[in-house]
Amino acid sequence: MHQLNPVTEQIQISGIRRFTDLVAKYPDALSLTIGQPHWPTPQHVKEAAMAAIEKGYTTYTPNRGLPALLQAAHAYYGTKFDLDYHPEKEILVTAGATHALDISLRALLEPGDEVLIPGPAYPGYEPIVLLAGAKPVYIDTRADGFKVTSKTLQANITRRTKVLVLPSPANPTGVAYTREELEALAAVLQSTGVYVITDEIYSELHFADGHVSFATLPGMRSRTIVIHGLSKSHSMTGWRIGFVLAPAEIAQQMVKVLQYSISCASSISQYAALEALSHGQRDAEPMREQYRQNRDMVVRALTEMGLEVVVPDGAFYAFPDVSTTGQSSQAFAQALLHEARVAVVPGDAFSALGEGYIRLSYACEEQKLEAALARIGQYVARRTAQA
Ligand SMILES: Cc1ncc(COP(=O)(O)O)c(C=O)c1O
Repeated sequence: MHQLNPVTEQIQISGIRRFTDLVAKYPDALSLTIGQPHWPTPQHVKEAAMAAIEKGYTTYTPNRGLPALLQAAHAYYGTKFDLDYHPEKEILVTAGATHALDISLRALLEPGDEVLIPGPAYPGYEPIVLLAGAKPVYIDTRADGFKVTSKTLQANITRRTKVLVLPSPANPTGVAYTREELEALAAVLQSTGVYVITDEIYSELHFADGHVSFATLPGMRSRTIVIHGLSKSHSMTGWRIGFVLAPAEIAQQMVKVLQYSISCASSISQYAALEALSHGQRDAEPMREQYRQNRDMVVRALTEMGLEVVVPDGAFYAFPDVSTTGQSSQAFAQALLHEARVAVVPGDAFSALGEGYIRLSYACEEQKLEAALARIGQYVARRTAQA
């Protein structure tokens, strides 16, 4: 038999998944590994999906998505984030933000291209870049509060740089960029041909008002592809609905990749999404408020334990430095699970730049979070006393 694709062979199963498999062996553990809101999908959205099934809306839709949903996405992201993309030419409905990232990168990349990824990073970017024959280049953000700066961006751009991936708010660190920070990056990119893929899947869980999309900065729209979706804003991870907002000439190429990868997103999920975008403009607000309070609790507790943490601006993750305990990310996470029965994700799941950190998700009830933090505190105190 011929060899399988060496690139797929080289790709590792996500470190998050590997660790969640281990956690399953500890049923009494409190898990802070979860990457989705703990709230259910809003009832009105579920009902719209049930009605779609009843009405027989179970056939293929246009590749780009239902026209009514594209109109709704145009209005929704226009009102919320000041984005202006033509509903028929510049918006595509995808199978989650993951698929939106996939078709964006596949439409842009050629073998040998370099893609800049601020690290530590969400593990979903690198494999797509590798599968396209391109090269992921991590920008080390650890000394800059986990954000890429004009200086580090400039230092990493080469002749081969095709794309900068820019998540805000980011996973696993929760940091988000201010307008001034984005303007500094735009000033560097202005004289280059580099495209920007802004992953804004957590934008509705941005704790500060006034989330700024990079595409709205003067001169940046033509090079920017915006990734959105309902997984986090409407607690719809399993429905698989994402959106790409991109200039027409890029969207026109992406739709071919979409067509030959999935034909279209699930029709039932699209009807649910139509309801979410038409009548669920405020659905994220209670989650955002709870996660903001949880964020404050986590930062306070970690600081009291003596662990350094960059204060997250959004999403539902904190990424503290545990290297002061003398343990690697893996050793810390495994011992914490085994001895204290708390599950967190080892930082090295987010590229080598995450070594020495752990990711904890605070997408859970306050009481559970409080109990888990108390156990982490006791574990850290024991470790520190031993060291
Ligand atoms: C930064 C980031 N982008 C994209 C995704 C994927 O989202 P979706 O479930 O819509 O594919 C995630 C999921 O955790 C994420 O954290």
